[in-house]
Amino acid sequence: MSSQRFTPLIDPFDRRVRDLRISITDRCNFRCTYCMPEEGMKWLDRAELLSFEEIARLARIFVEYFDFDGIRLTGGEPTVRADLPVLVEKLSGLIIPSTNKPVDLAMTTNGSSLRLIAEDLKAAGLSRLNISLDSLDPQIFNLMARRNHLDKVLDGIEAAIEAGFAPIKINIVMIRGTNDHEIVDFATFGRDKGLQPRFIEFMPLDADGAWTMDKVVPADEIIQKINDVYPIEPVSHGPEPAQRFRYKDGMGEIGVIPSVTKPFCGDCDRVRLTAEGKFMTCLFAVNDFDLRAILRSGGTDKELIEQIKAAVGTKWAGHNIGKVNFIRPSRSMSQIGG
Ligand code: 5AD
Ligand code: SF4
Repeated sequence: MSSQRFTPLIDPFDRRVRDLRISITDRCNFRCTYCMPEEGMKWLDRAELLSFEEIARLARIFVEYFDFDGIRLTGGEPTVRADLPVLVEKLSGLIIPSTNKPVDLAMTTNGSSLRLIAEDLKAAGLSRLNISLDSLDPQIFNLMARRNHLDKVLDGIEAAIEAGFAPIKINIVMIRGTNDHEIVDFATFGRDKGLQPRFIEFMPLDADGAWTMDKVVPADEIIQKINDVYPIEPVSHGPEPAQRFRYKDGMGEIGVIPSVTKPFCGDCDRVRLTAEGKFMTCLFAVNDFDLRAILRSGGTDKELIEQIKAAVGTKWAGHNIGKVNFIRPSRSMSQIGG
């Protein structure tokens, strides 16, 4: 008889939850319009952020007790946190009990600091990178990120390639009338550089409240536009939200994330930890669960485990973006973690 050393975390809709997104800071050196306001963000105090030790303790529980197989570091911009490779090293050593393999440790970054730290991150055991890049045109980049750093990001992408990250995914939030004329340019860019573009439908998580349904560029339209120039075919895939396609000529892959037009909530296996240690079961969740309070009052692993189970017991079927009963979350993406 095999004695199972872990307890799978199952939500009320019978979904196995096994992917943790950890926001390690709410701060960012960019101000992307779809995420942050231009001015007036109130940052958390240093003491409010979970320490690396606290993050590592929680991550260990998710992996070793609940058999999570994926962890993604997000922000804000995760690379603004000092000594990031130290955290990466703590997390990359975690072993998934059911497979005995190291956890898949990924990070989403705006790429602007990669020239400085890509190599250290790789050496510390980071396995995968998603780099956000919303336009290849300096003016549009500047309009969307509100920072004039296209060159830095392009150089950061080169640094990531040189450090040996592969495949590197490029996140592109598509906004109608802003960057939707660049769909094929991004496909060409990806083919030339061996990168995987992932086109993301704009979600109502912008701090400015400027989201409207007509700014969403439907994933089907993106697929069509690329297919007209570079024929593609679907790739079958697991529970990941991206629909993947490969070029018929073998020149790589693209992904589209139809979060609005075809929500992938039915397959969702994610939960989130905010930078101040609030546990959330959906980007759009209205409730959060304060794990930091348990950590800082000397709580035991058992208490943390019970709180996590109780929280996952409230995970809902899915969001209702575009429907009348949709409740806009009070936090923006930079505060929840992308
Ligand atoms: N809609 C869709 N994606 C968003 N992101 C941030 N805000 C939004 C939004 N409103 C995603 C982007 C970015 C990552 C950090 O979070 O993909 O690359
Ligand atoms: Fe910063 Fe990312 Fe938000 Fe842009 S989307 S402001 S890079 S956290």
